[in-house]
Amino acid sequence: MCGIVGYIGERNAVPVLLYGLQRLEYRGYDSAGIAVLEKEGNKIIVEKQVGKIKDLQEYLWNKKIEGNVGIAHTRWATHGPPTIENAHPHLSQKGTIAVVHNGIIENYLELKNQLQKKGYKFQSETDTEVIAHLIEDEYENNLLETILKITKKLEGAYAIGVISTYEPDKLIGLRKGSPLIVGIGKKENLIASDIPAVLEYTKDIIPLDDNEIAILSKDNVEILDFNGNKKEKKILHVNWDISIAEKGGFKHFMQKEIHEQPRTIADTITGFSSQDINKIFSNLENINRIIIVACGTSYHAGLVGKFWIEKYAKVPVEVDYASEFRYRDYIVDKNTLIFGISQSGETADTRFAMLDAKEKGAKTLALVNVVGSSLSRESDFVLYTYCGPEIGVAATKTFTAQLVVLYLFALKLAQFRKKISKDEFDKRYRELLHIPTSVEEILKKDEEIKNIAYDYTKATDFLFLARGLNYPIALEGALKLKEISYIHAEGYPAGEMKHGPIALIDENMPVVFVAPKDYLYEKTISNIQEVKARKGKIISVATSNDNVIKELSDKTIFIPKVSDEIYPLISVIPLQLLAYHIATFLGKDVDQPRNLAKTVTVE
Ligand code: F6R
Repeated sequence: MCGIVGYIGERNAVPVLLYGLQRLEYRGYDSAGIAVLEKEGNKIIVEKQVGKIKDLQEYLWNKKIEGNVGIAHTRWATHGPPTIENAHPHLSQKGTIAVVHNGIIENYLELKNQLQKKGYKFQSETDTEVIAHLIEDEYENNLLETILKITKKLEGAYAIGVISTYEPDKLIGLRKGSPLIVGIGKKENLIASDIPAVLEYTKDIIPLDDNEIAILSKDNVEILDFNGNKKEKKILHVNWDISIAEKGGFKHFMQKEIHEQPRTIADTITGFSSQDINKIFSNLENINRIIIVACGTSYHAGLVGKFWIEKYAKVPVEVDYASEFRYRDYIVDKNTLIFGISQSGETADTRFAMLDAKEKGAKTLALVNVVGSSLSRESDFVLYTYCGPEIGVAATKTFTAQLVVLYLFALKLAQFRKKISKDEFDKRYRELLHIPTSVEEILKKDEEIKNIAYDYTKATDFLFLARGLNYPIALEGALKLKEISYIHAEGYPAGEMKHGPIALIDENMPVVFVAPKDYLYEKTISNIQEVKARKGKIISVATSNDNVIKELSDKTIFIPKVSDEIYPLISVIPLQLLAYHIATFLGKDVDQPRNLAKTVTVE
């Protein structure tokens, strides 16, 4: 939700800020802007545009703005529609302070009233503008002290970047509840909402914790808590390759990320083995119940994880939407493990659910993709997926990587608790090592799936049905399709269809069945028959050479045969491709679908 970036150094800040914004565009893309301190340091120039970063870039093309200190923002509207006035950065009344902000200032109306009484005129409807005026109003002779004072007045969640004509040799970043990292360069330093924004300039980063403020100059970075106490922070070296954040010949990031899966699955298997999982398990010996909390695609991964953990490790598992879990009277104790799954590690719903349960005495374990993310630091234990940055708003490669970790977690826990033998673990592990090859085989069917997609671009509704372990894959297939193509789609357990959704089926309704030859195959076949009898259009994902399903279906996408339990790792790939191609045929912006943002840092 909104991306911010800031630069101080010897280069012209403008291209650095634009580069950073492009890398953060997945966080919001309805308007964008930059603020740069003119070389002499006595004026802040602000330029904004409604639309995407490329619109801002084109607009800035002929403007000769130069300065070595600046901040920038890409917006996902919360307060006020996407207009130039509401776009960030926001300037204070006298133009001495410029501010960018990600988050929500909950008491902004109260602060706005107070400032208006003092004669401050507001240019925007945003909550952010109060911050700029407040700093200007309170400033005496020290920017840092003023901002520290203001943190006591601001309620809500925020990551903020500030520059000022009062102290033009400083860039200040502060965080409470929304992510912010500091990038440490040579004779230059940066702040940003996320790592890809600084990768071109440095791979050395410091993720700020909540209630921390960073004071950056060209040659120095100092970090304090909100009481002004100095903090010693460890520098994290990230080895993400910059090319991972580029499209590399693909039309969209989402397409590239779908095709990266053989590698990201393999890397995650290797990465999992390098983590000391037994150490985590020995700290969790008394755990007798697991609650998985997550949102969206990560929630679907959690639903598959439940099957595996219960099947192998024999520990009862509940899966809950993080946004729902937090606000009910859930029951946890010191023997409950809250397992939070989040690609970004910054999703507010998931973070706050975990923090709440931790406070109530539960143990917390996070599974994240982003190193140094909030969830990874706030949890008792952390596991990683090894995907590199995921830029496409629709999660793809991180979903299959989450499944890999959940599967290995379940097997390792089962082995640790002596529910399965080492031989069984080894057998299943060896089989997992073949999954990247199976995924490659499915990816070779890209053209075939594209042709199927073409036939269904006019559909207005879709049903996705499956049973057992593949039921969450049906949910995921429906989510992928609706979020990038805007076609209405619902995922359902195939056995539930007869209890209601069957009424929707007629000759215009495409029904996607995930129907591998597993232990529920015969039951699924009956459900396919039920749809066929009502003239629904059947698209099936089936195991290679399954002629029964081929006969029953209008279109069949074959996937290789694997063990029943690991079909979800491969059965989702055709659904990702189907959604991608339908959305592309419809001319939708698949990397940045309307109304969505990659990292949802508001509740
Ligand atoms: C769907 C999608 C979202 C995210 C959800 C959680 O394609 O990307 O549904 O899965 O917003 O995000 P994380 O995993 O970052 O917590």
